Amino acid sequence: MSLVEMKHITKTFPGVIALNDISFEVQPGETHILLGENGAGKSTLMKILSGAYEPTQGTLVANGIEYKRFTPKLSQENGISIIYQELSVINEISIQENIFVGKMVTKKVCGIPVIDKAYMRKRTQEVLEEVGLKRDPSEMVGSLSISEKQMVEIAKAVAFDAKVIIMDEPTSSLAQEEIQHLVSIVERLKSQGRGIVFISHKLDEVLTVGDRVTVLKDGTYVGTYNIRDMDEDKLVRLMVGREIKGTYLKEADEEYPDETILEVENLTRKDGKARNISFSLKKGEILGFSGLVGAGRTETMEAIFGAAKKKSGTIRLYGEELKINNTYDALCAGIALVTENRRETGFAPFFSIKKNIAQALELKESSFGGMTGLISPAQEKKVAEEQEKAMQIKCASLDQVITELSGGNQQKVILGRWMASNPKVIIFDEPTKGIDVGTKSEIYKLMRQLARQGIGVLVVSSELPEILSTCDRILVMGEGQIKGEFTSANANEENLVRAATS
Ligand SMILES: Nc1ncnc2c1ncn2[C@@H]1O[C@H](COP(=O)(O)OP(=O)(O)OP(=O)(O)O)[C@@H](O)[C@H]1O
Ligand SMILES: [Mg+2]
Repeated sequence: MSLVEMKHITKTFPGVIALNDISFEVQPGETHILLGENGAGKSTLMKILSGAYEPTQGTLVANGIEYKRFTPKLSQENGISIIYQELSVINEISIQENIFVGKMVTKKVCGIPVIDKAYMRKRTQEVLEEVGLKRDPSEMVGSLSISEKQMVEIAKAVAFDAKVIIMDEPTSSLAQEEIQHLVSIVERLKSQGRGIVFISHKLDEVLTVGDRVTVLKDGTYVGTYNIRDMDEDKLVRLMVGREIKGTYLKEADEEYPDETILEVENLTRKDGKARNISFSLKKGEILGFSGLVGAGRTETMEAIFGAAKKKSGTIRLYGEELKINNTYDALCAGIALVTENRRETGFAPFFSIKKNIAQALELKESSFGGMTGLISPAQEKKVAEEQEKAMQIKCASLDQVITELSGGNQQKVILGRWMASNPKVIIFDEPTKGIDVGTKSEIYKLMRQLARQGIGVLVVSSELPEILSTCDRILVMGEGQIKGEFTSANANEENLVRAATS
């Protein structure tokens, strides 16, 4: 018998049919993958299961009872727990308080109910052990890493004995070894008879953790399959409907004048997180930065972009030395940075898609750091429409608030914003986080196109296949320094990893 069943679910938002007649069920002891392109409806389906959204049509069945909708409370009572794409732990309180938030356990002392701290602490210790998180229950959640915060969320699900645990893109912000830890936790939860729903755009991972997969496309149901009958190509064909080509490197016969676009010399950050960084970027090439999480790649880019203080070093653009003291200087000089963390440094959550796209150009075209001379509404609309098309942003209208978009489509808006600022150099920091395989290849094509147009392209990525299929030259970083250099001809996964860990 299934742990929970969704029958013929349809969900509409103004102007969009997010889900059209979708049926889905979770069995005990299985990891059920939910797969589909950006905007296919995965998160929406799961929000209906968690009670956050009410379905427009269809029903839910749990413990033999059929419901028209779940409320969050009803969903919990039926043993369903969700870990959102954007984690929802509270940084300002302790691990223990996060686990018991809204569900304080009380005991009676002389007939008066008081909070049972001792029990909650003990139970927290148990569940932390269960998920392999070596922290004290009293530690503040704000001091934990993303991976540890995620473990707190899983521990919370375990604490209340969730039967179905939904993980929406749990690995998109994790380093390789953290992913392995998560996978082992998923295996353990599964062996206890729980059902796991797992959403991911990483197909290798899908094939490792999954037992079954349900594929959605544009809000419609494609099918449910056993993972053992699948491989990456089959999955891609089911979700995208076409094959995806392998590499996006410079063609052998492409020739460029021997011109240096960007030259960075002895760049050192005040905080020492990047030291003695020297490299140059030539016309026509894409330069990659590989390395482990924390190797100093993002930190280097921040220093170039004026988002972090420099102790020393020079940056030259087409031979001319730049004075970059803040991000506005960088923007005006023609440097763009697509950040890896769209929620924290990426977008303006209360603004429309249109405003979010036009923002960088608007600032660049203005005087006094955005005080005067903003671009006209007509120009704003034009710029936004161009990027909507170029980035294939899936939305009902450009006037929608950006948070209404699916995760991957939000990322596309951020890409569009920087493209619209007419940069001379564009830095992509983990550009395809949360982006589906089909769109990924579109973004890689676009990077190549930019390089061909003479725009400097730097790519920071922890995904080795991404670096290897897009970069003509690769610098490997470790401990804040450059540790090695490879060309596309002599680089492979093995020697990149070796250089990063040496
Ligand atoms: N609150 C909302 N208001 C309006 N439209 C919405 C809302 N939430 C989702 N949508 C739309 O529903 C569709 C499905 O979105 P959903 O977030 O479920 O996609 P997804 O499969 O999770 O994609 P991704 O892989 O990018 O996270 C999208 O077109 C999205 O814009
Ligand atoms: Mg989603």
